[in-house]
Amino acid sequence: MQSGEQGVLKAIWSALRTPVAPEHRGDLAFGWLILGLFFLQVFTGILLSLYYQPSPPMVAESVQYIMRDVDWGWLVRGVHHWTSHAMIVVCALHLLRAVITGSYRGAGTPNWYAGTLVMAVVLVATYTGDLLTWDQSSYWRLTGALARIESFGSVGAFFADVARGGSEVNATTLSRTYSAHSLLLPWMIWVLLVANLWFLGRRLGMRRGGTR
Ligand code: HEM
Repeated sequence: MQSGEQGVLKAIWSALRTPVAPEHRGDLAFGWLILGLFFLQVFTGILLSLYYQPSPPMVAESVQYIMRDVDWGWLVRGVHHWTSHAMIVVCALHLLRAVITGSYRGAGTPNWYAGTLVMAVVLVATYTGDLLTWDQSSYWRLTGALARIESFGSVGAFFADVARGGSEVNATTLSRTYSAHSLLLPWMIWVLLVANLWFLGRRLGMRRGGTR
């Protein structure tokens, strides 16, 4: 029997080598662009994390060090910043295209769900990245956001507590924000992108086999 892992790889391989009808080339171009931007984001993020220090007294100094003293640090930080905004724009265009062409319906529905989730997680990743400068503005934005989450009853209070790591915003909150930003959210985006490719591979495979 074929293992699940082999199934995923086979579906991705099928997506990669199947000739694409001209009307779907735009969708594919947006998809590859998102994947490319994601890799660039991970690459520049890893470079930043070599110097960034997620502890409240050190954050400002480490960001300043990246900007002034690290060779090309200003460029890496700028690319990391603008790529996240480019990802949001391209994800939005990708979803808009799916709505306009109607490809979100029928066999395209799983891709539509995966795509909207990618967009949501990219927004959260951008938001948490913006907080990492840990200045007055980040502190108050995060305090406000957590108070709003807390207003959603006991479930909201639970998530706000987990994000804060206690009853107030402090060093633990920064550490959790940093972990979520650099590990949890990028992994979530990666899983969703692979799922998207897998659904696509399955659809194309189905068409080739004449099932649809
Ligand atoms: C894949 C989705 C990601 C998005 C959308 C994203 C977005 C952002 C944004 C918008 C910032 C603020 C940049 C600024 O100061 O203007 C930031 C900061 C940062 N990110 Fe990411 N990031 C991602 C992944 C990662 C990964 C994978 C790592 C590390 C492995 C990482 C490490 C960092 C670090 C260390 C900072 C703080 C330095 C700074 O403020 O410039 N990021 N990120």
